Amino acid sequence: MDPVTAILMKTLSVVRGRSSSANGHIVRCDLLLAVVARSCGAKMALSIDCGVRPGLFTLAASVELGPDRGRPPRQIRKGHSVSITGSTKRATVDRPAFELFEGYAVSSIIASLEMVGLLDLLEADGIGEEVIVDRMPDAAALLRASLRFLAQRGVVEESAAGYALSDYGREVCRDKGYLVWLVGGYGEPLRRIESFLGGGKRYGEDYVRDGKWVAGGAALLGGRDVVPQAKDLLRQTSFNQVLDLGCGNARLLISLCQEFDANGVGIDISPEACADARAAVAAQHVTDRVVITQADAGALGEIDALANTDLVVTFFLLHEILALGKDVLIAYLTEMARILPGGAHLLIAEVEPPARESGLPERFTPEFTYVHALMRQVLIPADEWVAVLETSGFAVRTVQRNDMPGGILLLAQTSA
Ligand SMILES: C[S@@+](CC[C@H](N)C(=O)[O-])C[C@H]1O[C@@H](n2cnc3c(N)ncnc32)[C@H](O)[C@@H]1O
Repeated sequence: MDPVTAILMKTLSVVRGRSSSANGHIVRCDLLLAVVARSCGAKMALSIDCGVRPGLFTLAASVELGPDRGRPPRQIRKGHSVSITGSTKRATVDRPAFELFEGYAVSSIIASLEMVGLLDLLEADGIGEEVIVDRMPDAAALLRASLRFLAQRGVVEESAAGYALSDYGREVCRDKGYLVWLVGGYGEPLRRIESFLGGGKRYGEDYVRDGKWVAGGAALLGGRDVVPQAKDLLRQTSFNQVLDLGCGNARLLISLCQEFDANGVGIDISPEACADARAAVAAQHVTDRVVITQADAGALGEIDALANTDLVVTFFLLHEILALGKDVLIAYLTEMARILPGGAHLLIAEVEPPARESGLPERFTPEFTYVHALMRQVLIPADEWVAVLETSGFAVRTVQRNDMPGGILLLAQTSA
């Protein structure tokens, strides 16, 4: 490929994008092409094609190359007429790898903005120049670049007032918990797959997930997709003392205690999750009724609160016990049923593996299953959970799907 076409193709791959603010791109592309044109004295035509896919536009340029075709632009003598006719087709047609490329970058930035506390601003009033310049110079420049990139990808819209979410961006940010969970929680082990596959490294020994953002992401996604249904189920029960096993940042535990006028104990093995949980307990002024303990929920015998608990909630924890074997999980639940008072409830949230026969698009569950495979964990479908609970001495009252793809809630009870 001649160097001028190479420059153009590089340029065009940058400006191809999904945006309602196509004009911004056109102007920028125009300028870029003009620079190339000036440097090689070329004649060029610019065409814009909006018909590839709804909301997606591509820009194509054709420049006529003269007899010097193939020589670097710098060597082309001033005034020499050069025309380039190299096709940009390959650079502008749909190429699925670039969808993945874009998704990776967009997900990373949205999750990072949430993790640094800036996404709330973007979701509320938008981010103006005053927010950008109020940072250290490098951070300000990167924030501006991040927002411009998100504008190029149609997630935000740029105006004189600054940057605000587009309708598309707002839709994406409703599910930001999933992005935080993946990028913030599992970014490190996902980056290390090659060392697990071929470098003799092991998850849990050489690299681990990030406890703060596994919990933070789970609380965000659960708050929207699981907790409302969970609370509806709990309205059919009555309880005063809640134990949350694997409580994460305790958002669920705190809101249950507040809404159902109960006392709560939260157990989590992650120091980072416990630190966030304690901060939330203090911020919500519920230190008199919610206690957070950093401990292994696998050691039920050491959890004194269990014997006085009339509701155990455990969201996205039990598959960690299952990783030790189904017999271990059954022994664990059997002990729980033995220690709990008669008639106590157990509310479990889990995720089913992809159901190949469903015929529906499999959203999230293949990735969720894969991330757990990375940690040597497996997921089981709802009917297997029911069998495990019944074998362990619980009576299963309800099994309910929810808005989380593959998400299930199981409400069980010890015998009276
Ligand atoms: C996916 S997060 C869910 C957090 C919370 N239940 C929620 O739904 O928002 C799973 C939590 O279980 C915790 N966890 C994992 N193994 C544990 C164990 N053996 N004992 C206590 N907590 C554990 C993790 O630290 C993490 O905070």
